[in-house]
Amino acid sequence: MAAFKDNSGVYAGKGRWRTCCYYTDWQGIRRKHERRGFKTKHDALAYEKEFLSKANRDINMSFDAFIDIYLENLKPQIKLNTYYSKEFTINRHIRPYFKNKTLSEITPTDILMWQNELLLKRDEYGKAYAMTTLRTIQNQMNGRYKNPTICDEKTLREASEILKKAKIVCGDYLEVLHEYAQPGDFIFLDPPYIPVTEWGDFKRYTKEQFYEEDQRNLANEVKRLQKLGCYIILTNSNHTLVHELYGDFKIDVIPTKRAISSKSSSRTGEDAIVTAFPDARRVVVKDVILPEQVKLYPATRFMGSKSKLLSEILAVANNFEYKSVLDLFSGSGIVGYMFKCLGKKVISNDYMAMSATFTKAMVENSSVILPIEEAKELLVKKAEPDHFVEDRFAGLYFSNDDNKLIDILRANIWAMEDEYKRAIAMTALIRACTKKRPRGLFTYVGLGEKYNDGRRDLQISMEQQFLENVDAVNRAVFDNGCNNISVWGDAMSVSGKKPDLVYIDPPYYSPLSDNEYVRRYHFVEGLARDWKGVEFQDNTKTKKFKSYPTPFSSRDGAEAAFDSLFKKYKNSILIVSYSSNSMPTKEEMIEIMERYKAHVEVVPVDYTYFFGNQKDAKSHRNEVQEYLFVGY
Ligand SMILES: C[S@@+](CC[C@H](N)C(=O)[O-])C[C@H]1O[C@@H](n2cnc3c(N)ncnc32)[C@H](O)[C@@H]1O
Repeated sequence: MAAFKDNSGVYAGKGRWRTCCYYTDWQGIRRKHERRGFKTKHDALAYEKEFLSKANRDINMSFDAFIDIYLENLKPQIKLNTYYSKEFTINRHIRPYFKNKTLSEITPTDILMWQNELLLKRDEYGKAYAMTTLRTIQNQMNGRYKNPTICDEKTLREASEILKKAKIVCGDYLEVLHEYAQPGDFIFLDPPYIPVTEWGDFKRYTKEQFYEEDQRNLANEVKRLQKLGCYIILTNSNHTLVHELYGDFKIDVIPTKRAISSKSSSRTGEDAIVTAFPDARRVVVKDVILPEQVKLYPATRFMGSKSKLLSEILAVANNFEYKSVLDLFSGSGIVGYMFKCLGKKVISNDYMAMSATFTKAMVENSSVILPIEEAKELLVKKAEPDHFVEDRFAGLYFSNDDNKLIDILRANIWAMEDEYKRAIAMTALIRACTKKRPRGLFTYVGLGEKYNDGRRDLQISMEQQFLENVDAVNRAVFDNGCNNISVWGDAMSVSGKKPDLVYIDPPYYSPLSDNEYVRRYHFVEGLARDWKGVEFQDNTKTKKFKSYPTPFSSRDGAEAAFDSLFKKYKNSILIVSYSSNSMPTKEEMIEIMERYKAHVEVVPVDYTYFFGNQKDAKSHRNEVQEYLFVGY
């Protein structure tokens, strides 16, 4: 038997104790049992001893422990009222006498002495117990084997059907809630009651006892759950401490009949039922229909693209009045484009030149297109190109002929005068290169035969890809009547007039995943900035360059960056995309946002990631809960 200081998870630094032991269950299977949260080592060891006796169905278990097992087994077999009266009789007249004896120690003489004691016993009016009372008490000591229900097949099958959909967890309630509670969940809590009278000591329900401090921790947990958006009902005794701890919530007091009381007159008690529902949500998520124009944005496989979450983002945004939007981490540019389609003034920003090129071509640009004849001209060699791609990336990503064509296109595109035509041509070249790479990535080298699944995108020539993409980008160009802006800059230092709504979708930080955009797209990012000002990493196989620094590449950095952005945009409506496997955690994000926003809400969105970039998430590989944090 052993007890240990518990210094992990919810008990870290709280000086609590835990036990861990092995036992053999009734099927002969060896199992591990752990229990946490004990105030003293003594409590932990006492619990373990009692548990092992019970688990092993040991003849040396205490009578007290045996009665617990007996009552537990009896309860589902008889009517509840019958059970309560039995429980009362046992607790009042039998348990106190043999409580501290082990089963093997109880002798026939003990039983005789107990019977004598009952005969001599007087009630509060000095009267001896009636014979019927004595018989009722005595009957509890005898088994009832008339028509015992050995196997209640119907009930068992019904229960089995229901339990197929359930997950049953045996664990510390705080840990279970931290792991499983989600916004919108209904949670019922029936903790050990705060004792109201000596005989109403419900603490016995848990051997490790549930102290006042535990009641306070529980109340804090209820507050956390309510903030998270859960619906909670909690029962306890009608004690002043319950009113103190749950004063902010609705408390209903209802009379209850208790089986445990020495006087029949005081066998009634009062239960307090605490109802803690989340603040009425003000953010309503109603179905939306996306503007038709959004469909003209060329489809993208950009990592972390929210192209599949546009309806949810719009449904949340629809709760507010706003004219201008800042899409701070624009990535593929699709979110900013959607807001443009809604007639909003949009500022799209990203620190990657390729992202800024996309939004220059399709968000900022309201009227310029690149006629196909002009685009065809770009495929023809004019001046001698610099052969940069042909030399540096020979044999890495594309054939020599394609590399030569890329160099010709680069030379011609950079020579273009009109910034929007240039952006359209460069967007088309980036898209052509990405589409001609299986999986659209530049993290591995080789001409992609391994992943060539015969898709059209991989079959058609670089020329055709380029021209088709010029056409696709041209079709996305339109005027929404606003002066929209594309910015190539660091999100932390974007300047200008504060927008009405800021959409924040940074790389999600998680120790399990890689959120490096530059590493994945270094080749096309290089095209977009003509490899100017980058730090080459010549010794790499992929011939990439150094990723740009971003605070979102570490947990602490991400936390500080969110704080700084929420502070900077504290007067704007904030919508933040974040996921359940990221850090800061959901609770921490709420806490940071609440520093600057009076109202913070979390809207969960079910979402399965396109990229399987989790290194170690086993069967739940891509099952991530996506959240929209809304601050206003
Ligand atoms: C999750 S993606 C955004 C996806 C985008 N909302 C979409 O739907 O395509 C994150 C983006 O943040 C950009 N990024 C990372 N750190 C940045 C920073 N410090 N400043 C600006 N952009 C940054 C990355 O380049 C990447 O495009």
